[in-house]
Amino acid sequence: IARSEGIERLFNDLKLLKLEIETCTRCPLYKVRNHAVFGEGPLNASLIIVGEAPGREEDIEGRPFCGPSGELLDRMLKAIHLSREEIFITSVVKCRPPQNRAPLSKEIKACIPYLETQIKSIRPKAILALGEVAGKALTKANLPVKELRGKIHPTDHGQIIVTYHPAYILRFSGSQQEKAIKKAAWEDLQLLEKVL
Ligand code: URA
Repeated sequence: IARSEGIERLFNDLKLLKLEIETCTRCPLYKVRNHAVFGEGPLNASLIIVGEAPGREEDIEGRPFCGPSGELLDRMLKAIHLSREEIFITSVVKCRPPQNRAPLSKEIKACIPYLETQIKSIRPKAILALGEVAGKALTKANLPVKELRGKIHPTDHGQIIVTYHPAYILRFSGSQQEKAIKKAAWEDLQLLEKVL
């Protein structure tokens, strides 16, 4: 009984948080968004994936990773036998910055309490941070992905693994660096598979 009450409370808390995010005016991005994107997935997920911010498709649909980055993300997950249905997927910033520019530090600061509440409520075993914005925000280390990836960062809120953002990987498609970046991301995914 205690456990089902706990789950019910968690469900209600996150439902309220979703409403709060969807009507948020804590930073100016609310003026230019179509949808604030809360994220999606089971509230008892053992893995949370954190991106940077919604892109064009995500802003239109109100769902995380539903554009080209999401397609690559799905393939990355499949490579380690995971599917979206078992993962909670969200981002550091919940509203789309204009033209997909990087979120400003004041936007990150305004929005990060939402992510922290999501993590504290869901209590995952592991968190996969995609790209520098998520990597820095979650590890609190001011380092590029190159330095943050390839290892497990233990924290009070689960083990954090940082890897390249799928949009970043896509940008190198057909270039000389593509192979090295994909190899690094593959190593990070295998590390993730081990801790789950
Ligand atoms: N990039 C992100 O970081 N999040 C999304 O939902 C889509 C693209």
